[in-house]
Amino acid sequence: MKEVSEYIQANKDRFINELIELLKIPSVSADSTYKGDVVNAAEAVRKSLEAAGADNTELCQTAGFPVVYGEKIIDPSKPTILVYGHYDVQPADPLGLWDSPPFDPVIKDEKIYARGACDDKGQMFMHVKAFELMMRTNQLPCNVKFLIEGEEEVGSVNLETFITEYKEKLKADIILISDTSMLSMENPSITTGLKGLSYLEVEVTGPNRDLHSGVYGGAVGNPINILCEMIASLKDENNYITIPGFYENVLEASGKERELMAKTPFNLVDYKSKLGIDEVHGEIGYTTIERRGIRPTLDVNGIWGGYIGEGAKTVLPSKASAKISMRLVPNQSDEEITAKFKKHFESIAPKSVKVNVRPHHGGEPYVMPIDIPEYEAASEAIVKVFGKTPVPVRAGGSIPIVALFEDVLDLKSILLGFGLDTDAIHSPNEHYGIDNFLKGIETISYFYESYSNRK
Ligand code: BES
Ligand code: MN
Ligand code: MN
Repeated sequence: MKEVSEYIQANKDRFINELIELLKIPSVSADSTYKGDVVNAAEAVRKSLEAAGADNTELCQTAGFPVVYGEKIIDPSKPTILVYGHYDVQPADPLGLWDSPPFDPVIKDEKIYARGACDDKGQMFMHVKAFELMMRTNQLPCNVKFLIEGEEEVGSVNLETFITEYKEKLKADIILISDTSMLSMENPSITTGLKGLSYLEVEVTGPNRDLHSGVYGGAVGNPINILCEMIASLKDENNYITIPGFYENVLEASGKERELMAKTPFNLVDYKSKLGIDEVHGEIGYTTIERRGIRPTLDVNGIWGGYIGEGAKTVLPSKASAKISMRLVPNQSDEEITAKFKKHFESIAPKSVKVNVRPHHGGEPYVMPIDIPEYEAASEAIVKVFGKTPVPVRAGGSIPIVALFEDVLDLKSILLGFGLDTDAIHSPNEHYGIDNFLKGIETISYFYESYSNRK
């Protein structure tokens, strides 16, 4: 491909400014206050696709937020890449911990700071710009379709219906996604696995009202104490999850696979120091890379109950709650694990309380083969830009629609992400390196070329 780096160099300021405009729209899908902004972001993405040269751009209505669609069919006999991304973002809370307002992007130390800078507006926008580059330089080598959704951060609940209904329109040969991270700029990687997810909310109820903690304390079950004991019992002293049958369907990695994983260029000292922790924590017998990539996990995401205002209030609360997520690996399923959790959690509750387990959205895990031409094409594109062969790495995060793309559309996904674990996605001060953004655009452009050459 000609002119790739020239085009990026000549247009990079405009690319960054356009991304900044998109980042100013607070498209928080979880919070109904931002309903209008989410739709505005969809329209902004549609316009950017149109301006880049896409045909038939539209906002496709769903029961939730619209899906942005656009395409360029240069020759129906040529292969088609379907680009997936999301324009919605996580809530910016806690606002007080941001150094600059989350929807007022700033550039500091060659990084763009804003909610969505990396996840996923910045990464999704690289695809719009790589497409623009290929259109303007007259070298788009294959067909391309864009499917950019607005509900990824709330579980993509309406997307399965959408892709089922639009199966014909979405016909393609491969799905290309930038919504994951790399090990580092020096050690590029390709994501070859995503975790599944089972997410539940539990509520423990004791007495029918809040009580005086002296008058009743020690005599009546305290829902917070009991919830903590129940949660603590979900793991044993080796950090194995104790839910009966939890590991039953886990596909154990072979010795050879684990040997390869051990060679992953991962710096544990650096990892700990960047997080400000003295030691890592997890299942005995597994490395950090393994714990994150191939082992299922269980974490409390939030816990509340009782008095948390200023000063001390002596109260024995009536209720306590927690949000619990379990990240799943092949061949666990969301439905199976959710049912096992519910049964177990209800069974360990003492008679002094009642427990209610309510499942939220979930998703299935995904693993990508590395012996397919599309993986090789991605690897070749990365070598061109980063000067190093990428290593395959399984991620700890989830993108539930990817497993459904395979089930419904019969398509594999290439997870060509350019974020870094330190980009603080979902956290205050989320950012995305300008170098990552520009190298991403370049790599994506080369992917089109190496992919089309192999087809
Ligand atoms: N882009 C992330 C997923 C991700 C991040 C995968 C980093 C691999 C590496 C995505 O936007 C996300 O946050 N997904 C949610 C799942 C969803 C059901 C809310 C997650 O993983 O918590
Ligand atoms: Mn994302
Ligand atoms: Mn996310």
